[in-house]
This record gives sequence, C-alpha cells and structure tokens, in this order.
Amino acid sequence: MQRPLIAGNWKMYKTATEARSFLQDFLQLYHEEYAVDVVMAPPFTALHALHNGLHTTSIALAAQNASSENEGALTGEISPLMIKDLGCTYVILGHSERRQHFGEGNALINKKVHLALSHQLRPILCVGELLTERETGQTNSVIEHQLLEGLHEMTAEQMKSVTIAYEPVWAIGTGKAATVDQATEVHAYIGTMIEKTWGVTRESIRILYGGSVNPENADSLFTSPQINGALVGKACLNPDSFAKIIASAHHSSV
Ligand code: PGA
Repeated sequence: MQRPLIAGNWKMYKTATEARSFLQDFLQLYHEEYAVDVVMAPPFTALHALHNGLHTTSIALAAQNASSENEGALTGEISPLMIKDLGCTYVILGHSERRQHFGEGNALINKKVHLALSHQLRPILCVGELLTERETGQTNSVIEHQLLEGLHEMTAEQMKSVTIAYEPVWAIGTGKAATVDQATEVHAYIGTMIEKTWGVTRESIRILYGGSVNPENADSLFTSPQINGALVGKACLNPDSFAKIIASAHHSSV
C-alpha cells in the first residue's frame, strides 16, 4: 500500500495574508520525516503565497477546481495551465459543493479530469452519496455511476495518477463523520470496482475518506487498511488540528 495522503481543502477560507500566517504556524508543528504525503488546497488567490512558503518542504499544492478548457472567453474561470504555472501538482475535482451549488455533472467533471491529467496534474476526484440515497440503499449505485462517468475513458496508466476521495455528502461539514465500518465498506466497494473496470490493482490507487475528519476521529479512521488518507475541510484550517491529523496518519502507517 502507498503512503497515506492527507489533503486539506480550505474551501473559501483565508486570504493570501492569512495563508502566510497559517503556514508559519503550521510549519512549526509539521514533521517533514513523517511517512505521509501532505497536500494543501487553498483558494486560488492564496496559491502563489503558499507555493513560495512551501518550496523548502515536500508538501504539495492543489487547486480546489479547474476549468475544463485550457483558455478562452470564459469570464471567472481558471484553467489547469494556470494552476500548474502557480505550482500545483494536484487538483480537487467533482467536490460535492461544486456539484450541488455550481451544477457540475459527471460529464463535465470527466472532461476536467482528462484535461488535468494531460497537464500532469493529479486529480483528486470526489464522490459520495446524499443522505436520502444512503437511506434508500443506493450508496453503491450512486458511487458506481459517479466513477464510471467521471472516469470515463481513463486508461489503466492514467488511473494510477488519480486519487479518489469518498465523501458522503451527509458527513461534510456536519460534524457527523462516517463510522470506520461505513467508510471501509464503501472504500472496499470502490477498490473492487476500480480493479474490475480499469484493470489496476487496489494497491496502486489511493482512496481517501472525507467528511468531518478531525483530530478526535482520525486515529480510528486510519486503523482501516481501506482508508488511505483523508480529505480534510474544517479541521485543516487550524494548524494544530491539521498537524494532529497528519500525525495520526503517520502513526497508523508505521
Ligand atoms: P469537512 O469537509 O472536513 O469540513 O467535513 C470535507 C470536504 O468538504 O472536503
């Protein structure tokens, strides 16, 4: 199994000035020698500041979204070329907030995944069911659909650069994380499906869990060999809690 990956999704929080001060505090608590890959996904406007602050570390930079086009008359859009130029190596795509509030569907997300990969950006593709879908027994079928369409026409080689984040929508920002058993079950399902559909081994793919991960539940989530890290929202905004989650991932992997 690969090293765990902990990614912080800052959402629409922190100015560039606040990002610099966050980083100063965080780097005091961060252990470069930990066996964990760390990714930070600040707003676009803080990418430059973080890139400058991270160059002495192995922490990677991600954008929270990118356009499905390289350039064009698309007011307000940011292309994968632009985020690459600012030092990003990862990009979060298909987050449930993009699906819910900005109408992003699987076909558009698929286009974004392909374009990102063509620029050697590593997509973190988010999938997850709504509460009503879970309650009506549709979790697996919803996720299967999101994966089949979101990763349509992906080669086995390309799949090795894709990270999946399982984020049940009911767990995001609610303080009510999935249990280890619930997450493990879905991760196992995703792993098997990816092996069967794209012919890659489970070990070559990282499946992160996201949704109310915090320093209190991280230890127990990382006991599951199916959970290869986390996509952290709220708790990544605080240097101390983000550092604690990274430490949990390290201790679970050694
Ligand atoms: P949360 O967000 O940790 O605040 O629930 C996770 C996410 O949206 O990626």
